[in-house]
Amino acid sequence: MRTDLSALPEPPTRPGNGHLQDWALHPLALIEEGANRARVGGLFRLRLGLPAVVGFSPAWNRALLTDLHTFRSAGSFSKVVPYLAGGVILTDAPAHAPRRGMVNPGFGKRHMETLRERVRAALPPIPVGEWDALAWADTAALKMLNAAYFSGEFDPQLLHAFLAPLRHPFPIPALPRPLLFARVDAELRRLAHQRLTAGGGDDLLALLAALPGGLEETRVSLAAGHDTTTHALAWAAWHLAHSPEWHAPAHHPAVLKEVLRLYPPGWMGSRRLSRDLRWTTADGQSVRLPRGTLALYSPYLSGRDAALWPESGEFRPQRWQAAPPAWAYLPFGGGERICLGMHLAHLMILEALATLPALEPMRGNATPRPGVTLGPAGPLVVRERLKHRPA
Ligand code: HEM
Repeated sequence: MRTDLSALPEPPTRPGNGHLQDWALHPLALIEEGANRARVGGLFRLRLGLPAVVGFSPAWNRALLTDLHTFRSAGSFSKVVPYLAGGVILTDAPAHAPRRGMVNPGFGKRHMETLRERVRAALPPIPVGEWDALAWADTAALKMLNAAYFSGEFDPQLLHAFLAPLRHPFPIPALPRPLLFARVDAELRRLAHQRLTAGGGDDLLALLAALPGGLEETRVSLAAGHDTTTHALAWAAWHLAHSPEWHAPAHHPAVLKEVLRLYPPGWMGSRRLSRDLRWTTADGQSVRLPRGTLALYSPYLSGRDAALWPESGEFRPQRWQAAPPAWAYLPFGGGERICLGMHLAHLMILEALATLPALEPMRGNATPRPGVTLGPAGPLVVRERLKHRPA
């Protein structure tokens, strides 16, 4: 009996390039087909020029996210995107825990209350008439991040120029941009110097600037936080426009959870195996995964698995009255490496949603478009719902 990678199901391959072409052009369709073929076992193979497997069962997610010695970040996809290749994101165990411990306090729930007012005040006004919720979310995320990190003092044009390439399809986010990064680092040094010499302040940079490697953590986490927040906010606004019965702020946490289940901006997470691993799939097959294998987990597939979620493809915020299945809901990852900016993202998105009037959808393209993060193709044009118009 085969017990190596070749025993695993896989989506159809193309002669000469395996799955590379579909991975580049239609990755969601590719992984959905893989998941269909591995519905029972929860693990399938991809041929991406190196051995790769995608798992979506709770057991796989749990192993990948908690065994930091076997599943390493060095050599993962983050390495190829200069924006994300640094700081805590690329630090592996055993150095990861103390590094996270150092940066965590600024991003903890308590510090979020210090930032709340300035984040709220930074929100752009709601445009009059018809407006694109994706473009608005983009501006809102940029301004809220500037407020939270820098009390709004970072040159807004430079911040926009820095973050804009991340949104484009590959290879644009992966290209080196030494001049742009140097300008951003100079701006960070200028603002950090003010905070370190003039006695502080309490924005995120004030806390990070004092730490070894703090400016790199600032730059990398800004990049990790921008498109993710923009896309989650845009989708939430679009769904609220379609389902105005969820308009009241009391419903927004459930709306956001449901949006992140269906459209997790971090749609695919990656690690590399530091040793050979014997894995027993959910249907009892024992497979040897060789050291160096690219090990992927997918919040997108796990969040839509029909075996775990009733009416898995439907937008049903009411499902959040009950706890989700364990290790199946991972929009922020999990374990020790859980998203550093999770509380900040909640703060920004919920503050932004609370300012929205009741909306109605006009026209748009909400097709999920995967890049570094998963976003709607856009635009998502909405307008204020007229009072007499029924929901
Ligand atoms: C809705 C918004 C966001 C989503 C969906 C999201 C998603 C994620 C996911 C899935 C991971 C885990 C990656 C992995 O383990 O493979 C992660 C990690 C991370 N996120 Fe977020 N993120 C969001 C917002 C933010 C924000 C606002 C920041 C700003 C601080 C941020 C900074 C980070 C960092 C630094 C890590 C790496 C943590 C580590 O490895 O220790 N994220 N995020």
